[in-house]
Amino acid sequence: MLVIPKINELRAELGKSRSQGKTIILVPTMGNLHTGHLKLVTQAKSQGDLVVATIFVNPLQFGAGEDLEAYPRSFNSDRNKLEQAGCHCLFSPDANEIYPDGAENQTIVSVAKLAVNYCGMSRPGHFEGVATVVSKLFNIAQPNKAVFGLKDYQQFLIIKKMVYDLKFPIEIIGVETHRESNGLAMSSRNNYLSAEQRKNAGIIYQSLQATAKSMRTGLGNYSELEQQAMKMIEQAGLTPDYFAICQADTLEPAQAEDKELVLLAAAYSGPARLIDNLRVSL
Ligand code: PAF
Repeated sequence: MLVIPKINELRAELGKSRSQGKTIILVPTMGNLHTGHLKLVTQAKSQGDLVVATIFVNPLQFGAGEDLEAYPRSFNSDRNKLEQAGCHCLFSPDANEIYPDGAENQTIVSVAKLAVNYCGMSRPGHFEGVATVVSKLFNIAQPNKAVFGLKDYQQFLIIKKMVYDLKFPIEIIGVETHRESNGLAMSSRNNYLSAEQRKNAGIIYQSLQATAKSMRTGLGNYSELEQQAMKMIEQAGLTPDYFAICQADTLEPAQAEDKELVLLAAAYSGPARLIDNLRVSL
């Protein structure tokens, strides 16, 4: 596996592959890779010829008081995992390579509407940071396709909308969430949890499933179900941030007649902010 820290070198390398007619699949990550990330690589391999993973802990998507400094970094083990998973190339720039004029002097990509609520509300500026860095990575690597985890469902929709609005000729592929045995969605932030917190955090997925079940059986209106789910999460010792029943494509609050829905949940457990979702077709 090639490990490339510089934009020019990556462009030169990918240019060669492109001229040989190879398709390039991008897997953007912030490192600290777990099984869920490696599933993204497996999916990427099935989608084209050359898999390019990126590891960059993007300062622009962390707000004041968030965990930028503490964010787990494990470059050597990440590199080995990617190599074993069959990734062909790793782009691992430093912050100066991506933001040579500083992250605060940076053209910002802002996706309207979809980025306003839920994680956008709780983490002001977060999705601008994500959209900005992903658009840079797209311009740097110019992949044919890019793969993202569906655990970050709001992020996934925002990236799809950005690609549509800004006319990136890139297909966006979503990969299902990988879960621990108690249902907890795999995330780099699970590393912050104690064994007890990790066990209790399974309640997030259980609350999503319980709500989906009630919806399928027509029990309760949506705002009651949201309140019940938050209570369930709270009783397990977590602090809910939001629990929302939304239209799957627009993330607008779901109406009784909507058929394609997504349940979005976020909760704090100790130092970790955990998110998850469940798509429901009625
Ligand atoms: O989902 C992530 O890990 C990050 O938000 C991403 C897409 C790599 C951008 O930094």
